[in-house]
Amino acid sequence: MNIDLDEFVKEWSELSNEYKNLEATNTSYLDSLENLELLQEQCTTQIKHQRYRMQQISKNIKQCIHNKRLTPEENDKLDDLNKNLLKRKAQLHEIEQGLPQKNSLYLNIILGNVNVSILNRSDKVRYKDDYEKFKLILNVIGLLMSFLNIIVNYRALELAFIFLLVWYYCTLTIRESILKVNGSRIKGWWRLHHFISTASAGVLLVWPQGEPWQLFRTQFMLFNVYISLVQYLQFGYQKGVLYRLKALGERHNMDITIEGFHSWMWRGLSFLIPFLFIGYIFQAYNAWTLYKLSRHIDATWQIPVLSILFLVLFIGNTTTTMLVIPQKLRGRIKERYRLMSLSWAMKARQNKTTKQSGSNNECDKEK
Ligand code: COA
Repeated sequence: MNIDLDEFVKEWSELSNEYKNLEATNTSYLDSLENLELLQEQCTTQIKHQRYRMQQISKNIKQCIHNKRLTPEENDKLDDLNKNLLKRKAQLHEIEQGLPQKNSLYLNIILGNVNVSILNRSDKVRYKDDYEKFKLILNVIGLLMSFLNIIVNYRALELAFIFLLVWYYCTLTIRESILKVNGSRIKGWWRLHHFISTASAGVLLVWPQGEPWQLFRTQFMLFNVYISLVQYLQFGYQKGVLYRLKALGERHNMDITIEGFHSWMWRGLSFLIPFLFIGYIFQAYNAWTLYKLSRHIDATWQIPVLSILFLVLFIGNTTTTMLVIPQKLRGRIKERYRLMSLSWAMKARQNKTTKQSGSNNECDKEK
């Protein structure tokens, strides 16, 4: 075979020229990155400054109200100021969503020093959507397995189900920590609830077989069937909230207003809450059954521990859910500004993307 080396040399020199282009692009990319980090730092400092000054203004307002009787005109001014402060808080929160945040200690321990901030609003929504879907799929599997465990009393199947619970709740704690870093307002209790559930599932896993377990087994599986069904209802609610939040940011969906969002949310909550409370009563009943079983002659340490854990879950869940409604009623104005800033931010980003793709299209046409 006749090999033409010159041809290869020519190809190599062509490729080298292309590599020079790549180097130039990479240099400009690194410059942009450096610039980006600088801008991020500047934004963070300016947000801190805004918050500090807002704190001072709020403090001065409080002192002023305390020391002086206000005229109706001054009262109006004060109302405006308070509204503006709330609005600015929501705007700052929204700006912060585009900036990298520090990991929590838990994430640092589990994942190491890697940043999990998602800087794009639609990617954040997608991640949350993914989290809800993950819960749904695992709940369907959980529902099938607990149902099967009611029909068949087979130790390996039982252990597989309990092991799935350990893994599921453990994964939830990680995902929720990532959501929290990315600005989710998930309450501390729900995260703690999933830590406690991981611990409970771990204790269940090492509960030795015997009469007490057999006496509790069916009740536990029925409880899981019920919880899986309630989780399905919760999924419907959270999915609806997410859909409406997305719609708030879409330009052509002006019919779905903030008021519409609120009225839908209240309807969803009033449907869901009775089912949640039945679940909590079930948890209290589990705690009571386990308490009685702890007096059984074959009782092991797992039984009183589980009884306490179920009781803690019952108290924590009931209190938190009961506080949600008054909190939502009190925070209506705050929530309104949050939604307005969110809608504003999503629209601004969408307009930018549309403009960018428009100019790209024009460039393509010119080419
Ligand atoms: N698990 C995970 N995340 C939750 C949550 C839960 N149980 N409850 C609320 N959140 C999240 C919301 O999705 C929202 O996230 P975002 O900031 O990323 O958008 C944030 O926390 C704030 O939610 P909030 O406005 O306080 O409540 P909500 O209207 O979304 O939901 C309830 C209110 C009562 C429906 C909800 O808290 C719930 O389902 N609680 C019951 C959970 C439970 O009891 N589970 C055990 C079943 S027996």
